[in-house]
Amino acid sequence: MSDHKPPYLGFGLGLRPQHYQDILSGDPDIDWFEVISENYMIPGGQPIRILDQIRERYPIVMHGVSLSIASTAPLDTEYLTALKTLADRVNPKWISDHLCWTGVHGVNLHDLLPIPYTQEALDHVVDRVGQVQDFLGRRLTLENVSTYVTFGESEMSEWEFVSEVAKRADCWLLFDVNNVYVSAFNHGFSTDAFLHGVPRDRIVQFHLAGHSQEETHIVDTHDHPVCEEVWDFYREAVTHFGPVSTMIERDDNIPPLAEVVAELDIARKIAREVQDGARTIAAE
Ligand SMILES: [Fe+2]
Repeated sequence: MSDHKPPYLGFGLGLRPQHYQDILSGDPDIDWFEVISENYMIPGGQPIRILDQIRERYPIVMHGVSLSIASTAPLDTEYLTALKTLADRVNPKWISDHLCWTGVHGVNLHDLLPIPYTQEALDHVVDRVGQVQDFLGRRLTLENVSTYVTFGESEMSEWEFVSEVAKRADCWLLFDVNNVYVSAFNHGFSTDAFLHGVPRDRIVQFHLAGHSQEETHIVDTHDHPVCEEVWDFYREAVTHFGPVSTMIERDDNIPPLAEVVAELDIARKIAREVQDGARTIAAE
Protein backbone atom coordinates (compact mmCIF):
# COMPACT_ATOMS: atom_id res chain seq x y z
CA MET A 1 0.00 0.00 0.00
CA SER A 2 1.40 3.40 -0.95
CA ASP A 3 2.32 5.76 1.90
CA HIS A 4 1.97 8.77 -0.39
CA LYS A 5 -0.91 11.10 0.28
CA PRO A 6 -3.24 11.18 -2.75
CA PRO A 7 -2.64 14.14 -5.08
CA TYR A 8 -4.46 17.48 -4.92
CA LEU A 9 -6.95 17.41 -7.81
CA GLY A 10 -8.52 20.87 -7.70
CA PHE A 11 -12.28 21.34 -8.14
CA GLY A 12 -14.55 18.48 -9.19
CA LEU A 13 -18.15 17.36 -9.42
CA GLY A 14 -20.11 14.24 -8.63
CA LEU A 15 -20.68 12.56 -12.01
CA ARG A 16 -24.43 12.28 -12.69
CA PRO A 17 -26.09 10.65 -15.76
CA GLN A 18 -28.03 13.90 -16.48
CA HIS A 19 -24.69 15.53 -17.39
CA TYR A 20 -23.07 12.72 -19.43
CA GLN A 21 -23.77 14.26 -22.83
CA ASP A 22 -22.67 17.79 -21.92
CA ILE A 23 -19.42 16.45 -20.48
CA LEU A 24 -18.66 14.22 -23.46
CA SER A 25 -19.59 16.77 -26.11
CA GLY A 26 -18.09 19.84 -24.40
CA ASP A 27 -15.11 20.88 -22.39
CA PRO A 28 -16.57 21.99 -19.06
CA ASP A 29 -14.26 23.64 -16.55
CA ILE A 30 -14.15 20.71 -14.14
CA ASP A 31 -10.87 19.26 -12.87
CA TRP A 32 -12.05 15.79 -11.84
CA PHE A 33 -15.11 13.64 -11.16
CA GLU A 34 -16.28 11.55 -8.24
CA VAL A 35 -18.39 8.54 -9.24
CA ILE A 36 -20.78 6.54 -7.08
CA SER A 37 -19.05 3.14 -7.14
CA GLU A 38 -22.24 1.07 -6.95
CA ASN A 39 -23.59 2.66 -10.18
CA TYR A 40 -20.70 1.23 -12.20
CA MET A 41 -20.22 -2.21 -10.65
CA ILE A 42 -21.97 -4.01 -13.51
CA PRO A 43 -19.15 -5.04 -15.89
CA GLY A 44 -21.07 -4.27 -19.12
CA GLY A 45 -23.62 -1.71 -20.27
CA GLN A 46 -23.78 2.00 -20.97
CA PRO A 47 -22.75 3.50 -17.58
CA ILE A 48 -19.33 1.82 -17.48
CA ARG A 49 -18.74 2.53 -21.20
CA ILE A 50 -19.42 6.23 -20.59
CA LEU A 51 -17.20 6.21 -17.51
CA ASP A 52 -14.41 4.67 -19.63
CA GLN A 53 -14.66 7.68 -21.98
CA ILE A 54 -14.81 10.24 -19.18
CA ARG A 55 -11.83 8.76 -17.32
CA GLU A 56 -9.69 9.15 -20.44
CA ARG A 57 -10.04 12.92 -19.96
CA TYR A 58 -10.47 13.46 -16.22
CA PRO A 59 -9.06 12.00 -12.97
CA ILE A 60 -11.65 9.85 -11.20
CA VAL A 61 -12.35 9.20 -7.54
CA MET A 62 -14.63 6.34 -6.45
CA HIS A 63 -17.21 7.01 -3.72
CA GLY A 64 -19.26 4.15 -2.26
CA VAL A 65 -22.47 4.11 -0.23
CA SER A 66 -22.76 0.42 0.78
CA LEU A 67 -19.53 -0.59 2.51
CA SER A 68 -21.27 -0.43 5.92
CA ILE A 69 -17.90 -0.30 7.64
CA ALA A 70 -19.37 0.06 11.14
CA SER A 71 -21.96 -2.71 10.86
CA THR A 72 -21.68 -5.81 13.02
CA ALA A 73 -22.64 -7.94 9.99
CA PRO A 74 -19.67 -9.68 8.34
CA LEU A 75 -17.96 -7.73 5.57
CA ASP A 76 -19.61 -8.44 2.23
CA THR A 77 -16.87 -10.14 0.19
CA GLU A 78 -19.02 -10.15 -2.95
CA TYR A 79 -19.34 -6.36 -2.69
CA LEU A 80 -15.64 -5.93 -1.95
CA THR A 81 -14.70 -8.11 -4.94
CA ALA A 82 -16.90 -5.98 -7.24
CA LEU A 83 -15.39 -2.81 -5.74
CA LYS A 84 -11.85 -4.10 -6.35
CA THR A 85 -12.71 -5.14 -9.92
CA LEU A 86 -14.09 -1.65 -10.61
CA ALA A 87 -11.03 -0.01 -9.04
CA ASP A 88 -8.71 -2.15 -11.20
CA ARG A 89 -10.59 -0.89 -14.28
CA VAL A 90 -11.06 2.75 -13.31
CA ASN A 91 -7.74 3.31 -11.50
CA PRO A 92 -9.23 5.94 -9.14
CA LYS A 93 -7.07 8.44 -7.29
CA TRP A 94 -8.68 7.12 -4.10
CA ILE A 95 -11.71 5.15 -2.89
CA SER A 96 -14.03 6.57 -0.28
CA ASP A 97 -17.10 5.51 1.67
CA HIS A 98 -18.88 6.68 4.81
CA LEU A 99 -18.07 6.24 8.48
CA CYS A 100 -21.44 4.67 9.26
CA TRP A 101 -23.43 1.48 8.89
CA THR A 102 -26.22 0.81 6.40
CA GLY A 103 -27.81 -2.40 7.66
CA VAL A 104 -27.55 -5.61 9.64
CA HIS A 105 -28.97 -9.18 9.55
CA GLY A 106 -29.09 -9.12 5.73
CA VAL A 107 -31.22 -5.97 5.58
CA ASN A 108 -29.85 -2.94 3.70
CA LEU A 109 -31.64 0.18 4.90
CA HIS A 110 -30.04 2.33 2.17
CA ASP A 111 -29.33 5.01 4.73
CA LEU A 112 -26.11 6.21 6.33
CA LEU A 113 -26.71 5.38 9.98
CA PRO A 114 -24.90 6.85 13.01
CA ILE A 115 -22.40 5.04 15.23
CA PRO A 116 -22.17 5.19 19.03
CA TYR A 117 -18.78 6.80 19.66
CA THR A 118 -17.50 4.17 22.08
CA GLN A 119 -14.15 2.41 22.48
CA GLU A 120 -15.83 -0.85 21.50
CA ALA A 121 -17.19 0.63 18.24
CA LEU A 122 -13.83 2.25 17.57
CA ASP A 123 -11.94 -1.06 17.92
CA HIS A 124 -14.53 -2.72 15.69
CA VAL A 125 -14.33 -0.08 12.92
CA VAL A 126 -10.51 0.08 13.01
CA ASP A 127 -10.32 -3.70 12.62
CA ARG A 128 -12.72 -3.65 9.65
CA VAL A 129 -10.99 -0.76 7.90
CA GLY A 130 -7.76 -2.78 8.15
CA GLN A 131 -9.47 -5.81 6.61
CA VAL A 132 -10.92 -3.74 3.74
CA GLN A 133 -7.60 -2.03 3.05
CA ASP A 134 -5.79 -5.39 3.01
CA PHE A 135 -8.40 -6.77 0.61
CA LEU A 136 -8.28 -3.78 -1.75
CA GLY A 137 -4.53 -3.27 -1.44
CA ARG A 138 -5.29 0.45 -1.06
CA ARG A 139 -5.92 2.91 1.72
CA LEU A 140 -9.56 3.76 2.26
CA THR A 141 -10.89 7.32 2.63
CA LEU A 142 -13.73 7.70 5.15
CA GLU A 143 -16.33 10.46 5.26
CA ASN A 144 -18.13 11.94 8.26
CA VAL A 145 -21.91 11.63 7.80
CA SER A 146 -24.84 13.89 8.73
CA THR A 147 -26.65 12.56 11.76
CA TYR A 148 -29.99 13.15 13.44
CA VAL A 149 -29.61 11.18 16.69
CA THR A 150 -26.81 10.59 19.15
CA PHE A 151 -26.24 7.70 21.54
CA GLY A 152 -26.24 8.02 25.34
CA GLU A 153 -23.46 5.38 25.33
CA SER A 154 -21.01 7.61 23.43
CA GLU A 155 -17.71 8.07 25.28
CA MET A 156 -16.10 10.63 22.95
CA SER A 157 -17.00 13.31 20.42
CA GLU A 158 -17.52 12.55 16.74
CA TRP A 159 -14.27 14.29 15.80
CA GLU A 160 -12.32 12.30 18.40
CA PHE A 161 -13.81 9.09 17.00
CA VAL A 162 -13.07 10.09 13.38
CA SER A 163 -9.51 11.06 14.28
CA GLU A 164 -8.82 7.83 16.16
CA VAL A 165 -10.14 5.74 13.25
CA ALA A 166 -7.85 7.60 10.82
CA LYS A 167 -4.77 7.30 13.00
CA ARG A 168 -5.22 3.71 14.16
CA ALA A 169 -6.45 2.27 10.85
CA ASP A 170 -4.01 4.45 8.89
CA CYS A 171 -6.68 5.63 6.44
CA TRP A 172 -7.51 8.98 4.82
CA LEU A 173 -10.44 11.26 5.63
CA LEU A 174 -13.03 12.98 3.47
CA PHE A 175 -14.20 16.10 5.32
CA ASP A 176 -17.80 16.78 4.30
CA VAL A 177 -18.14 20.47 5.09
CA ASN A 178 -21.93 20.40 4.81
CA ASN A 179 -22.24 17.28 6.99
CA VAL A 180 -20.21 18.89 9.78
CA TYR A 181 -22.45 21.97 9.54
CA VAL A 182 -25.66 19.85 9.56
CA SER A 183 -24.59 17.63 12.48
CA ALA A 184 -23.28 20.64 14.46
CA PHE A 185 -26.67 22.35 14.07
CA ASN A 186 -28.66 19.19 14.87
CA HIS A 187 -26.63 18.29 17.96
CA GLY A 188 -25.52 21.72 19.13
CA PHE A 189 -21.77 21.30 18.85
CA SER A 190 -19.31 23.80 17.44
CA THR A 191 -18.21 23.44 13.80
CA ASP A 192 -14.85 24.88 14.88
CA ALA A 193 -14.36 22.12 17.45
CA PHE A 194 -14.79 19.56 14.66
CA LEU A 195 -12.59 21.52 12.25
CA HIS A 196 -9.73 21.79 14.75
CA GLY A 197 -10.34 18.32 16.18
CA VAL A 198 -9.42 16.22 13.13
CA PRO A 199 -5.87 15.58 11.87
CA ARG A 200 -4.97 17.94 9.03
CA ASP A 201 -2.53 15.49 7.42
CA ARG A 202 -5.28 12.89 6.92
CA ILE A 203 -7.75 15.06 4.96
CA VAL A 204 -7.68 14.34 1.22
CA GLN A 205 -11.08 15.63 0.05
CA PHE A 206 -13.88 18.07 0.81
CA HIS A 207 -17.56 17.54 -0.01
CA LEU A 208 -19.93 20.47 -0.42
CA ALA A 209 -23.70 20.13 -0.77
CA GLY A 210 -27.01 21.84 -0.12
CA HIS A 211 -29.41 20.87 2.66
CA SER A 212 -32.97 21.57 3.82
CA GLN A 213 -33.41 23.75 6.88
CA GLU A 214 -36.43 22.69 8.98
CA GLU A 215 -37.68 24.49 12.06
CA THR A 216 -35.77 22.44 14.62
CA HIS A 217 -33.19 20.57 12.54
CA ILE A 218 -31.47 20.29 9.15
CA VAL A 219 -31.94 17.41 6.71
CA ASP A 220 -29.03 16.59 4.42
CA THR A 221 -31.01 16.45 1.16
CA HIS A 222 -28.40 17.40 -1.51
CA ASP A 223 -31.18 19.04 -3.50
CA HIS A 224 -30.29 22.73 -3.09
CA PRO A 225 -27.31 24.90 -3.92
CA VAL A 226 -24.71 25.25 -1.16
CA CYS A 227 -25.98 27.86 1.34
CA GLU A 228 -24.12 30.95 2.60
CA GLU A 229 -23.35 29.46 6.02
CA VAL A 230 -21.74 26.38 4.46
CA TRP A 231 -19.70 28.58 2.09
CA ASP A 232 -18.50 30.50 5.17
CA PHE A 233 -17.52 27.25 6.86
CA TYR A 234 -15.79 26.12 3.64
CA ARG A 235 -13.72 29.31 3.78
CA GLU A 236 -12.71 28.41 7.34
CA ALA A 237 -11.89 24.85 6.29
CA VAL A 238 -9.66 25.98 3.40
CA THR A 239 -7.97 28.48 5.71
CA HIS A 240 -7.29 25.75 8.27
CA PHE A 241 -6.42 22.77 6.03
CA GLY A 242 -4.93 24.54 2.98
CA PRO A 243 -5.73 23.36 -0.56
CA VAL A 244 -7.84 20.18 -0.47
CA SER A 245 -9.52 18.53 -3.48
CA THR A 246 -13.05 19.93 -3.42
CA MET A 247 -16.26 18.74 -5.04
CA ILE A 248 -19.99 19.46 -5.01
CA GLU A 249 -22.54 16.69 -4.52
CA ARG A 250 -25.97 17.15 -6.06
CA ASP A 251 -28.35 14.18 -5.91
CA ASP A 252 -31.83 15.64 -6.38
CA ASN A 253 -33.32 18.58 -8.34
CA ILE A 254 -30.24 18.23 -10.52
CA PRO A 255 -29.75 21.46 -12.53
CA PRO A 256 -28.06 21.79 -15.94
CA LEU A 257 -24.30 21.21 -15.88
CA ALA A 258 -23.51 24.91 -16.43
CA GLU A 259 -25.33 25.78 -13.19
CA VAL A 260 -23.30 23.31 -11.11
CA VAL A 261 -20.08 24.45 -12.80
CA ALA A 262 -20.98 28.05 -11.84
CA GLU A 263 -21.45 26.88 -8.25
CA LEU A 264 -18.07 25.16 -8.39
CA ASP A 265 -16.58 28.50 -9.42
CA ILE A 266 -17.70 29.92 -6.06
CA ALA A 267 -15.53 27.26 -4.36
CA ARG A 268 -12.62 28.17 -6.65
CA LYS A 269 -13.06 31.86 -5.85
CA ILE A 270 -13.15 31.28 -2.08
CA ALA A 271 -10.05 29.04 -2.20
CA ARG A 272 -8.22 31.65 -4.31
CA GLU A 273 -9.17 34.45 -1.90
CA VAL A 274 -7.91 32.39 1.06
CA GLN A 275 -4.63 31.64 -0.73
CA ASP A 276 -4.17 35.29 -1.81
CA GLY A 277 -4.88 36.40 1.76
CA ALA A 278 -2.30 33.94 3.10
CA ARG A 279 0.27 35.20 0.57
CA THR A 280 -0.38 38.83 1.54
CA ILE A 281 0.12 38.03 5.24
CA ALA A 282 3.35 36.09 4.43
CA ALA A 283 4.69 39.04 2.40
CA GLU A 284 4.04 41.57 5.17
FE1 LIG B 1 -20.76 13.85 1.39
